[in-house]
Amino acid sequence: MLEVAGVHTYYGESHILHGVSLRVAEGEAVALLGRNGAGKTTLIRSIVGFTPPREGRILFEGAPIHAWPPYRISRRGVALVPQGRRIFAPLTVRENLLLGARADGWTLERVFELFPRLRERAAQAGGTLSGGEQQMLAIGRALLTNGRLLLLDEPSEGLAPILVREIGRVVKGLKGQRLSILLVEQNYHLALQVADRVYVMNKGQIVYEGTPQGLEADEEVKRRYLGVA
Ligand SMILES: Nc1ncnc2c1ncn2[C@@H]1O[C@H](COP(=O)(O)OP(=O)(O)O)[C@@H](O)[C@H]1O
Ligand SMILES: [Mg+2]
Repeated sequence: MLEVAGVHTYYGESHILHGVSLRVAEGEAVALLGRNGAGKTTLIRSIVGFTPPREGRILFEGAPIHAWPPYRISRRGVALVPQGRRIFAPLTVRENLLLGARADGWTLERVFELFPRLRERAAQAGGTLSGGEQQMLAIGRALLTNGRLLLLDEPSEGLAPILVREIGRVVKGLKGQRLSILLVEQNYHLALQVADRVYVMNKGQIVYEGTPQGLEADEEVKRRYLGVA
């Protein structure tokens, strides 16, 4: 589904990603963990075309997308829940949801079934929602683009534990069907709860690749790169 191979990405002269390779198979949920500043968002930006790699390849369903503009990558089937949610505060919940909507599979009705809270708030301005509700809105908006690969950049950031569990439950439920998932997280427990496979990134490089069980057992990697005791 997604193949990132030897990607180098820069901001101007700052060399951030140093030969990153990663795969997401069809129907798979993959977690990308790593400390603040490791380069996780930069990798997401590389995949969706906001900050294209200067070297390396990115294939989506076999198509080399690494030099495509963002709108084309999105239209091809890559959906993004960006870090910080990026809700349009003055627009209503319904308007936010329908912004990038494409008919095929996910409908407003299905999103409201997944997140009943959004139905109750459909006519309210996005900016009036709580953090958890805004995250549901960001996920609903991405689902309505009806992509086949869903990228989530730290969906649990700033949420209370009960909402983190709720997001975990929802993301887990989305897996399979027609969706593959790449979940970027700093929340180790959420990532391990959702993922079939895990990568850990540090200083722009992949430093661990394996199963959740393998990572759970690797005290060295957990301590050095994740700060998990
Ligand atoms: N727009 C930018 N311009 C220059 N440097 C940036 C920019 N965005 C991020 N960086 C730097 O790139 C590195 C990786 O950041 P980022 O990808 O956001 O990490 P993460 O998402 O893992 O926290 C950090 O050192 C950060 O300071
Ligand atoms: Mg980030």
